Amino acid sequence: MDNSVRKEQILIVDDTPDTLEVLQRNLTSKGYRTFIASNAAEAIHILETTPMDLIITDFKMPGVSGLDLIRHVRENFKNTEVMMITGYPSVEGAVEAVKKGAEEYLVKPFTDEELFTAVGRTLDKLRLRRIAKAPPSGGAYAPYGLIGDSEAMARVRDSIAKVASTSATVLIAGESGTGKELVARAIHYNSPRASAPFVPVNCGAIPNELLESELFGHIKGAFTGATETRAGFFQTADGGSIFLDEISETSLSMQVKLLRVLQEKEVCMVGSSRPRKVDVRVLVSTNKDLLQLVKKGAFREDLFFRINVITIELPPLRERENDILLLIRHFATKFAEESGKSPLQFSEEALQILQHYHWPGNIRELENVIQRLVLMTEGDLIAVPDLPSLMRFSALRETGLNRTLAEVEADYIRNVLASVDGNKTRAAQILGIDRKTLREKLQKPQKSF
Ligand SMILES: Nc1ncnc2c1ncn2[C@@H]1O[C@H](COP(=O)(O)OP(=O)(O)OP(=O)(O)O)[C@@H](O)[C@H]1O
Ligand SMILES: [Mg+2]
Repeated sequence: MDNSVRKEQILIVDDTPDTLEVLQRNLTSKGYRTFIASNAAEAIHILETTPMDLIITDFKMPGVSGLDLIRHVRENFKNTEVMMITGYPSVEGAVEAVKKGAEEYLVKPFTDEELFTAVGRTLDKLRLRRIAKAPPSGGAYAPYGLIGDSEAMARVRDSIAKVASTSATVLIAGESGTGKELVARAIHYNSPRASAPFVPVNCGAIPNELLESELFGHIKGAFTGATETRAGFFQTADGGSIFLDEISETSLSMQVKLLRVLQEKEVCMVGSSRPRKVDVRVLVSTNKDLLQLVKKGAFREDLFFRINVITIELPPLRERENDILLLIRHFATKFAEESGKSPLQFSEEALQILQHYHWPGNIRELENVIQRLVLMTEGDLIAVPDLPSLMRFSALRETGLNRTLAEVEADYIRNVLASVDGNKTRAAQILGIDRKTLREKLQKPQKSF
């Protein structure tokens, strides 16, 4: 994840000036806003005036101890996480700290990496908790209808703002479902052409032999069945913008014609040799790597260079974990409102699974999943068993090392049973237990899977 836009506020409490200095320098370099206090009283004083996301406190300090500070923070500042550092590693100390509400526990000496990981993890938990608890009604900051406060989305918005006022051709690249069409619309509707049509054309959905007449129109008698002269999408979009979606799906011969339109700003209707001027801004999308296609000879290099003047890259959703949470909230609110249901809440564990799922279908997939959850879930809390099994399964595999012995055992038994087509006698033999024990194990309530 990118570090340059962090603005979380961290208060560091330690009675050793050197430690304070090193921690402050390191965390500031990662973009956090840092504050320091050399004892608990000072820390509490700062907390009273400045909201903190995280407090990192030493364990042993003169006067009020780190543990007491943790308890005080837990009781009075619900929106602040606590992390404990100490030079006196003891199991009791760790247990105490965690019981009093410290999320993390770091033993000196620790590396910078260990510090960053622990801080990142603690703040992630805080974010999840806030989102799980936040009132679901939207209010997300979403210029152009684009939800997301990641650095990547900020860059996308920036590009939209820059190119909207021009008539430049823009190539919008990204995996399926990342929001390419949404960006194209945003460009058009924020351009001086906004009151003229925005015409999306899915190049992949129109057979290549029909595409030319669909795009440029045809004159009467141009081909069998052309009983009327008909305008194409370019004429429809005159004065506005055309969105050539999935441009890589066009044939090489079509690409020659598109290049000509871009260069000459005129189209020839099928069956006519007279070029007609059109004033159309061209927006293009691809979910394939066009440069790769150029190298393979599947996409014309000259057209590639002509459309690759300004490119807006939409990163896959899995690379923007925070945006996932914002989008979940956005769609949960939207679909609940639409179906007249009360707003949904998500358990922290469910949010964690959704956040770490790899979302191959990106935002479109997330939108569909949330819609299904809103419609199918009774009650207003989404917990882990409500999630699609595919997600629970991949979460289970990813966190394989966190599973309890009982879960691993249950899983293993199920695999063995499946491998012998459910034959319990065979399974018991393989597992080295008798049938009665196997039966008992199978009857035990198991965690949902
Ligand atoms: N940043 C975002 N904020 C809110 N909604 C979004 C965002 N990005 C995409 N969406 C929504 O996700 C869905 C898919 O977006 P869109 O159709 O623009 O993606 P696409 O990249 O064109 O997908 P495909 O390659 O499948 O055509 C749409 O419903 C869109 O409104
Ligand atoms: Mg699309």
